[in-house]
Amino acid sequence: MPAIDMIPDPFRTYCRQWSQDIQNLKSPNAQIEYFQEVLPDLLLDKPAWSSILGDIANGKPYPNIRGAAIFENEVLLYMDEARRFSIRIYFFDPGEYTMVHDHSAWGISGTPAGRLGVVKYRLDEEDAQEERARLFETNRLDLEPGEVDVTPPLDRGIHRTGNPLSEGTILMVSVYGRPMRRLYIRRFDPDTHRVTRVYPPKLRKKRAAKEALALL
Ligand SMILES: [Fe+2]
Repeated sequence: MPAIDMIPDPFRTYCRQWSQDIQNLKSPNAQIEYFQEVLPDLLLDKPAWSSILGDIANGKPYPNIRGAAIFENEVLLYMDEARRFSIRIYFFDPGEYTMVHDHSAWGISGTPAGRLGVVKYRLDEEDAQEERARLFETNRLDLEPGEVDVTPPLDRGIHRTGNPLSEGTILMVSVYGRPMRRLYIRRFDPDTHRVTRVYPPKLRKKRAAKEALALL
């Protein structure tokens, strides 16, 4: 978890302010509304992103790009001390999108430059089982710099995100709320209807070691 003193300004000022403000916002809806209002300011703060991206490109200790996350293009920028929210970035090359997935927490996403593509899906609830689910595409968005979109947790927030442009790598910036007690996200295949659990790399290795140990 990045210590706040390691974070350079101007980004640190946002982290401090948001952590302070969110203390008074107890309900998820109030927190979501707050970030819908403040995240666009950060997205449009070009000096903040120049400094963060420059530091990553130059291999500075912060942001730490070594930590392994579920998405390999993910970088954790900030985790609120009480874990009420986190700020993460994701890189997408031209035309690149994530798998179709859900989240254990609410999320708000946008981009500082280019376009951010979001494709949303609805689950066929009558038919849904743990390992099989039919999906219907319900919406397709191309967000402009500074625009944000909210993703609800679990079934109501099934989506994929990525870069709809044919040139240039984009950055997706996401704020997530406190995750529910579920250690995985679900991956959906809209063609075969298969649903699979995806665990963070650390957990995957621990589970694999346990199973390999049983074979010894
Ligand atoms: Fe997502």
